Amino acid sequence: MSRLDLPRVERRAFLRYGMFGAVSAGLGGFGLASLGFLYPRPGDELTGEVPLENAEALAQTIEESRTPVRVPDGGISIVSWDPSNEAAMGLYGEDHAIVESSGVGLMALYSQRCVHLGCAVPWCQSSQWFECPCHGSRYNRWGEYTGGPAPRGLDRYSSYIDDAGMYVVDLGNLITGTARTANALEQPQEGPNCVDA
Ligand code: FES
Repeated sequence: MSRLDLPRVERRAFLRYGMFGAVSAGLGGFGLASLGFLYPRPGDELTGEVPLENAEALAQTIEESRTPVRVPDGGISIVSWDPSNEAAMGLYGEDHAIVESSGVGLMALYSQRCVHLGCAVPWCQSSQWFECPCHGSRYNRWGEYTGGPAPRGLDRYSSYIDDAGMYVVDLGNLITGTARTANALEQPQEGPNCVDA
């Protein structure tokens, strides 16, 4: 996968926050993102309430690409969720953004830290799950627990849409992941795993 294959919004987000200054030196953004997964960082370069991107465009990009938008300096992966799902609305409706025009929710998963022992948890495009390379914990597209030693789903930051339509993540408000039994998405594995369990 080349850098040019990355979602448009992800590239813009990288540029906006200078996450990958080395790109200009010829290093591929995706390659660096992968290194970020292999060598976990605190992910605290961004703090407080951070406006990331137009919420409508961001939701559209995630839905069309079926790929979360990763923001390495925040240690987060932005995923979309479905507010028409009653269980999801109960779990996520209060703390996470909803794009009213499209009825798509947005959530900022703290994917830089597995809730087991803290490894970064990459996205697996083929299975459509997050898969931890350290001890095999797995989380579905909404960061809900699906397997392995993790005690719960991925933690996540609260977020909202501001008056200008920007998706804002509050990196000062980390929310503990849902219980192991929470499974609003009920998403089966959609293809081969990227990490052996
Ligand atoms: S740190 Fe992720 S499964 Fe152990």
